[in-house]
Amino acid sequence: TDKYAVFGNPIAHSKSPLIHGLFAKETAQVLEYEAILAPVDEFASCLDEFWKGEGKGANVTVPFKEQAFNLCDELSEEAKLAGAVNTLTVQANGVIRGDNTDGLGLVADLKRHMGELNGLSVLLVGAGGAARGSILPLLQSGISKLTIVNRTQGKAERLVDIFSEYGEVCALPMEHEDKSYDIIINSTSSSLTGEVPNLSTQVIDTSTVCYDMMYGKEPTSFNVWAKEQGAKLTLDGLGMLVGQAAQSFAIWRKVKPSVEPVLAELRTLL
Ligand code: ATR
Repeated sequence: TDKYAVFGNPIAHSKSPLIHGLFAKETAQVLEYEAILAPVDEFASCLDEFWKGEGKGANVTVPFKEQAFNLCDELSEEAKLAGAVNTLTVQANGVIRGDNTDGLGLVADLKRHMGELNGLSVLLVGAGGAARGSILPLLQSGISKLTIVNRTQGKAERLVDIFSEYGEVCALPMEHEDKSYDIIINSTSSSLTGEVPNLSTQVIDTSTVCYDMMYGKEPTSFNVWAKEQGAKLTLDGLGMLVGQAAQSFAIWRKVKPSVEPVLAELRTLL
């Protein structure tokens, strides 16, 4: 049986084994998928052990995505630009390939709800790892322009330097009184503590779709705020989670699982 795993620390609450188990069932693929807790300074050796035990592929989550990036023999364009890897694959020749499917999962989820994104304006809030991982897929999704704002503006400007050759992207101060956007994506961890980024309320109008990469049983603080400002639709990151898993599964098994039934099941378990 082909073996897969997700590595992280902590990892006990990872939904990846459940998600990939449901994908396997649905696509009639025979595989094992487990969660592995790697000590923070022993990720590389844990991974090595997994490959020696005939592991075929792995997902990588916090705090190992940057280390995984450094361990790959070959990288996808998304992974190169993200500077982080969430999907490792052992290829037939033994070469280890790194992909980053987080941003692809986000774009797939946006398209599932909104259809094509051609010509839309997007505001990305935050400039950490989660933001960086989503920029290339967003720029390649047909949107007209990506604006990045961050509490520490210099970090947003650095991302603009990295990505400006791939599309229309700019950085603005967080509280700028700008026009409204078609889509606003919160990539910050502010919802974890019930906070909301210090955005101008003018960024939202009645046609704006707001997306929080965080999720939970109750609407996130960002999405509650967005609704109060009159946003048309608020979405949370559960769809992105299942979306990135679906892209990983497709890389490994060459078959695309359906996202919706798995998402519905996960939602009932929150
Ligand atoms: P991740 O990998 O989840 O993106 P990260 O790299 O630590 O984590 O980045 C966290 C992001 O959330 C940053 O953009 C951070 O802003 P700063 O760069 O100014 O630190 C943002 N962030 C965290 N808490 C926030 C809050 N309460 N309000 C606004 N932004 C916040």
